Amino acid sequence: MQKNILVIYYTQTGQLEDIVKNIAKPFEDKKDEYKVTYYNIKLKKDFPFPWPSDVFYNTFPESYLQVPSEILPPPIEVLNQKFDLILFGYQVWYLTPSIPIISFLKSGYAENILKGTPIVTISGTRNMWMLSQEKLKVYIKQMQAKLVGNIALVDRHDNYTSVLTILNWLSTGKKEKTGILPAAGVSDEEIAGAGKFGNIIEKHFSQNTLEDLQPDLVKNDAVEIRPFLVRVEKVGNKIFTVWSRLIMKKKEKRPLLIKFFKVYLMTAIWIVSPIVLVFHILAAPLLWSKRQKQKKYFQGINIK
Ligand SMILES: Cc1cc2nc3c(=O)[nH]c(=O)nc-3n(C[C@H](O)[C@H](O)[C@H](O)COP(=O)(O)O)c2cc1C
Repeated sequence: MQKNILVIYYTQTGQLEDIVKNIAKPFEDKKDEYKVTYYNIKLKKDFPFPWPSDVFYNTFPESYLQVPSEILPPPIEVLNQKFDLILFGYQVWYLTPSIPIISFLKSGYAENILKGTPIVTISGTRNMWMLSQEKLKVYIKQMQAKLVGNIALVDRHDNYTSVLTILNWLSTGKKEKTGILPAAGVSDEEIAGAGKFGNIIEKHFSQNTLEDLQPDLVKNDAVEIRPFLVRVEKVGNKIFTVWSRLIMKKKEKRPLLIKFFKVYLMTAIWIVSPIVLVFHILAAPLLWSKRQKQKKYFQGINIK
């Protein structure tokens, strides 16, 4: 009997759609064995792309605090079927699964769809997805779904280059190389090659060995952990908590506070984070074993 595969995703730029479709291709290629259904999450009122600068920064508090927006109901074929495997594509906004993803998870539709089903999470981000994955794990657990794999595709350039290129991409809509700057986001080669992960997932799914899936994905470069970025994310989450609560509380001062937040964010990225990087490198010999442990944890799918 045909197995039912559901691919859930949201995308503004098309990047994540390309990634999940390439990963789903090995299932699509075996039409007699699998029926693949796509569910592209749609908001009632979507966010603009390219992003006007003020809208981009103004999205921060709700995004970080996981305040949902209204989504359009998923198609009937998604609501009326039980799936054998879910490929769950998501992107990160402000160190948190994006508002459209959170909106789906909090919509009341998600539980029915996800409950009891093995899930492979697939992210396409700049490079800071590790603590978002932790936030997503909580929803997956609450909904009694089973996380069996994780693939995290990122921009492989250094952290500073990728900030410049992503800001340019998100504000102009142009992903390609401009001047001395390389192309933004996940590289075309990695997107095109993402089908290799689909083959690995299909192999473990068909052989009933999903418990061995994640080590196999990691062996094939599905998850790269840079300890410095984990450190930045941890600090970033603490500071974002303070900023987001402050902005939500002082409603009448919101436009001004958002402006301050923007200045703060740029200062943190360009001035504070290089200083933290120096200390991070100096502390490397002392913290080596702790960082190895941390790396192993974030490459895995367990929940703390
Ligand atoms: C408002 C906003 C905030 C973002 N914040 C992060 C972030 O914290 N970490 C990260 O790695 N990428 C971040 N990104 C990049 C996205 O995760 C994603 O890679 C990019 O927007 C591509 O869009 P798509 O998946 O909707 O096509 C952000 C993007 C947006 C629009």
